[in-house]
Amino acid sequence: RTTLTAGVALATALAGPALANDELREYANELFEPIPLSTPDLANGNMVTRQRVDLGAMLFFDPRMSRSGLFSCQSCHNVGTGGVDGLETSIGHGWQAGPRNSPTVFNAVFNVAQFWDGRAADLAEQATGPVQAGVEMNNTPERVIATLNSMQAYVDAFQEAFPGEEDPVTFDNFALAIEAFEATLTTPNSRFDQFLMGADSLDEQELAGLNAFIDQGCAACHAGVNMGGQDYYPFGLVERPGANVLPEGDRGRFAVTETAIDDYVFRAAPLRNIELTAPYFHSGAVWDLEEAVAVMGVAQLGAELSEQEISDIAAFLRTLTGEIPEVVHPVLPTRTADTPLPEP
Ligand code: HEM
Ligand code: HEM
Repeated sequence: RTTLTAGVALATALAGPALANDELREYANELFEPIPLSTPDLANGNMVTRQRVDLGAMLFFDPRMSRSGLFSCQSCHNVGTGGVDGLETSIGHGWQAGPRNSPTVFNAVFNVAQFWDGRAADLAEQATGPVQAGVEMNNTPERVIATLNSMQAYVDAFQEAFPGEEDPVTFDNFALAIEAFEATLTTPNSRFDQFLMGADSLDEQELAGLNAFIDQGCAACHAGVNMGGQDYYPFGLVERPGANVLPEGDRGRFAVTETAIDDYVFRAAPLRNIELTAPYFHSGAVWDLEEAVAVMGVAQLGAELSEQEISDIAAFLRTLTGEIPEVVHPVLPTRTADTPLPEP
């Protein structure tokens, strides 16, 4: 894995006494990138128009997209609480607990692929998953389309978002609209980003934490604009965590690629807004950020970090909280006699 090697080489080169502020900033700018201030373009060519974003917001908040009429994307990715549900693993249809912790939708647009194991290429592909997942929204594309077509305001909104299409109310367009909305859920201007851009926005402990984050080798895997989300690594690269943290039944990317080398391989978790998104890891087994840092040290680096290093790194990670987007809950179209009824 080239990123890992390059990162480790850089981290090794940096080992030694703490760097002076400007040098540290320079190195940090080689490894990380501030979150852009404007909404990013989408690699699949999906257009982030106002009409698509507004429609996507409606769909994101509408629980009638689920079979029970109870679960919306917002149920598990609450945009008022860091884009997560704050549960160890998500609860969905029929009060079933899913197998994994809900990752934040904030800045998800910057991840190389979606889900803990990267099994969806982009946000549009991702959005078709939860609607159909039995433990999430337990719906069918046909039932979603019937629901949407039963309310004229939705039909109009699809026509405005996808002009020129003869029959724009499709499951593909449903996903594209949600993706456009999610592309707006970015959190620029964290104190760390201000530091990258030249401000003296970090205090001494946070600078020490940044230094340790690079020096210890965390940045070898958690790099780029999302400080993670950019590549895949074995969870337990050096030492496999206990089954309470890394449940044996979930083998990560192995299920996606079915190659032995991907056993227990997961996407390096993005660390943006990490102070808002407890509990941690795909198992959601760890509630305390300091403990998550210590687990990483042992599992990924074979390093027993000192109490001081752990608290410095955690202090640094808390500077990754950006400006949270103000999302207005849309008023949703009223049901009609044709709208499918909620089903248990
Ligand atoms: C993963 C969006 C509904 C629970 C994700 C991700 C996105 C997302 C973008 C990937 C984030 C990343 O990989 O960093 C949506 C949208 C939804 C929706 C747009 C509505 C259409 C739900 C619901 C639940 C849920 C209702 C809970 C019942 C989860 C979980 C994961 C996930 C547990 C991680 C799954 C895995 O990695 O295997 N969602 N979500 N989501 N979401 Fe949702
Ligand atoms: C997850 C921090 C080193 C790969 C995490 C999480 C944190 C973290 C806080 C949990 C994120 C969340 O649940 O949202 C750190 C720190 C490190 C470090 C402070 C240095 C001490 C590394 C290294 C690698 C790596 C060197 C790669 C070899 C991963 C992966 C995950 C992860 C794959 C996801 C684990 C899962 O499936 O639950 N990291 N990390 N990390 N990190 Fe690290």
